[in-house]
Amino acid sequence: MEQKFSYLEKIGKESSNLIKGLQAIQGVEGYVSDDGIRAAAEYFNIPAVEVEGVLSFYAQFKRVKPGRFKIAVCDGTACHIKGSVQIGGWLQQELGIKDGETDAEGRFSLETVACLGCCSLAPVMSINGRVYGKLDRKTVNKILREYREK
Ligand code: FES
Repeated sequence: MEQKFSYLEKIGKESSNLIKGLQAIQGVEGYVSDDGIRAAAEYFNIPAVEVEGVLSFYAQFKRVKPGRFKIAVCDGTACHIKGSVQIGGWLQQELGIKDGETDAEGRFSLETVACLGCCSLAPVMSINGRVYGKLDRKTVNKILREYREK
């Protein structure tokens, strides 16, 4: 197993711990890479194809490397009522990616999430955990411009 996955050794080797192991990999890497799959397969002694099967079964696991700026668009009830679907659409259009994707430069990734816990600011999105509320097309474009310059 590659040295960079040595943190798996803190988890018991039983195959029943596979999900725990994959969560650990995602926690460190932000996603589960092909190398992560190989490491988990080796460590838990499970065929890689089975590890891939588990990954595709559980929506919590990401197979795409997140961008430098992780955009989460809230689609909880309050945000949905206030037009979150449209906000997601504008972002997709501006960034040229779909929900769950990362752009070719590895700069932005986009994900629709459930309530971000600041419903009074709906519609809301966050970028690397920083929350932006009361969004409209103008503010979304302004925020994206700021991040493009970073
Ligand atoms: S529904 Fe969007 S922050 Fe709560």
